[in-house]
Amino acid sequence: MKKGRLIVLTFLLLIILIVGVILYFYNEKVEYRLNENLVVSLNDEVNTKDYITILKGDLISISDIKTDTIGKKKVDFILKNKFGHKYNKSFYIEVKDTIFPVIEVDNITVTLGTKIDLEKYAKVSDNYDDNVKLEISGEYNINKAGKYTIKYVATDSSLNETVKEIILTVKEKQVANTGTSYFTTSKGFSGYTKNGVTYIDGILIANKSYSLPANYGNGLTNDTLKAFNKMKEEAKKEGLNIYISSGFRSYATQKTIYNNYVKRDGKEEADTYSARPGYSEHQTGLAFDVNTISSAFDNTKEAKWLSANCYKYGFILRYPKGKDNETGYMYESWHFRYVGENLASKLYNNGDWITLESYFGITSKY
Ligand code: DAL
Ligand code: ZN
Repeated sequence: MKKGRLIVLTFLLLIILIVGVILYFYNEKVEYRLNENLVVSLNDEVNTKDYITILKGDLISISDIKTDTIGKKKVDFILKNKFGHKYNKSFYIEVKDTIFPVIEVDNITVTLGTKIDLEKYAKVSDNYDDNVKLEISGEYNINKAGKYTIKYVATDSSLNETVKEIILTVKEKQVANTGTSYFTTSKGFSGYTKNGVTYIDGILIANKSYSLPANYGNGLTNDTLKAFNKMKEEAKKEGLNIYISSGFRSYATQKTIYNNYVKRDGKEEADTYSARPGYSEHQTGLAFDVNTISSAFDNTKEAKWLSANCYKYGFILRYPKGKDNETGYMYESWHFRYVGENLASKLYNNGDWITLESYFGITSKY
């Protein structure tokens, strides 16, 4: 009897051992690693297999995901170990909208006092969202003539943000043709526009923001010529030869010059160094170019002397180096403008020329 029991017990233990060994192998672990980047863009083609690396076991099946909507997408897959045991697993891939909304908006020009709805000027579209959030910021005063920067910011539901800045120009109301309109610059100078000609603190302004009527001007003014001749005589004493190579230019002349440059370099490029007709200081009769009208003049003795002394005769170096953003034009070592000795001395600023735009607090932008 004792022997019989022993046999049964041994048999049972053996069974338990065999079952244990079978279970142990059957449940052998499968191993896999997921990609670090589990994010894809909207409508991207995705092969879910590429997102997983199998380290141990076999991939039996893996589901696809749809990328036409955003959000976390579940990928189900089945792994099998070599003993045929299947494991159901899953992971998530996030579909994101990575395309920025588009804002279509141009610079805006309105007349003083006009009611405007800035939102109406912009068209916003997006690849995914119908309702993109549009925020409009920037201070402006519709009752004060000037140029204001307005910022449009469009944000889609995936927080892709597009920013666009435009210039809002508030124009003076032109009271008939002979009407004068008055304004104050951002630096507090009084100005007025009369018959299309703008004066600030008594100084005639012609730049990209302040134009002249087509029929304005008829030669260099007497003051300009007189001061130039005086300056020329002083330069001569130093052994320098200064002469005017381009003085007064009519609207028509400027038109020909500018159009030729546009033909040669394109409008955008031409606008960096040549004024459009009606916007050139040469039409004021107060400005001229001397000697060589090119950068070849920059380092000549004449250019250096003029830059250091012209203010004594009432002239300013109108387009100083590095002030393109203020004047609207690249450096011109040859272009001088008569403003009178008083203002010229202030703008000279010990050789670190202050521009008319910066001094008066005005822009030079089309
Ligand atoms: N070159 C200057 C900017 C003009 O065309 O008036
Ligand atoms: Zn010039």
